Amino acid sequence: MSVKPPRPYYVPVGNEEQVFKAAYRQNLSIVLKGPTGCGKTRFVEAMAHDLDRPLITVACHDDLTTADLVGRFLLHGGETEWVDGPLTRAVRDGAICYLDEVVEARQDTTVVLHPLADHRRQLPIERLGITLDAAPGFGLVVSYNPGYQSVLKDLKDSTRQRMVAIDFGFPTPDVEEKILVNEARIDHERAAELVRLGQAIRRLETGGLREVASTRVLIAAGQLIAEGLSAREAARAAIAGPLTDDSTVTRGLAEMIDVYMPDSTAD
Ligand SMILES: Nc1ncnc2c1ncn2[C@@H]1O[C@H](COP(=O)(O)OP(=O)(O)OP(=O)(O)O)[C@@H](O)[C@H]1O
Ligand SMILES: [Mg+2]
Repeated sequence: MSVKPPRPYYVPVGNEEQVFKAAYRQNLSIVLKGPTGCGKTRFVEAMAHDLDRPLITVACHDDLTTADLVGRFLLHGGETEWVDGPLTRAVRDGAICYLDEVVEARQDTTVVLHPLADHRRQLPIERLGITLDAAPGFGLVVSYNPGYQSVLKDLKDSTRQRMVAIDFGFPTPDVEEKILVNEARIDHERAAELVRLGQAIRRLETGGLREVASTRVLIAAGQLIAEGLSAREAARAAIAGPLTDDSTVTRGLAEMIDVYMPDSTAD
């Protein structure tokens, strides 16, 4: 018998765990909205663990076809053989299917989600001429980053209205500090400095940045600190660098880093 792996580390920020579990139990599909690096993927992993369901994740992109999701005939030893796609596997196995960045997928791809996302819970497989009823336990979860796409690429209303939405923002400072301590293995004081820097960058709103500093980049900075880099070096490499290519904005961020990282070993 296999031993259940430990729960993926996830600290709740609000009532998202209750909403997810309630929606899942009621066979409602779920859309997670939020900026990059705020914990959406980690959250779904923790929920799949709590609900004891396998998790099948698909990263969506604009070349994704219905066949990529549902399945296709492949040549195998001179014969054609049907191979289930990840969505079909999830439907058959009663798994949680997580479609990451679903707005990246074309609408003709996502129409296949409609009968699955609503009360019908069915997946039509045209190539096989069959319609599958989702096995008990199947759950559909999609995510998207509302900041990225144009109105055109926005989710269709008919898709949206079939789903329960959970909004993700960045964790509160105390929660984020806890996450940094756990994920990067740094002490509370260092974690608190990084969180304050992150908060300051987030207050810049746009300030020439497409995205603000996520929990993910703060963790990366923490990991560099854990490896022995100074806090300033770590923040420049893991926070400022990934956020912008613009030299003026980079200088601005470097100044902020110097203010927020009181580095004794100034470099
Ligand atoms: N509430 C949280 N509890 C625990 N860890 C968290 C939390 N929020 C963020 N993290 C950490 O932040 C990292 C980034 O989160 P994650 O990969 O889940 O982001 P995401 O929202 O899925 O981003 P993307 O939209 O880019 O896929 C995780 O690896 C995890 O370490
Ligand atoms: Mg993710």
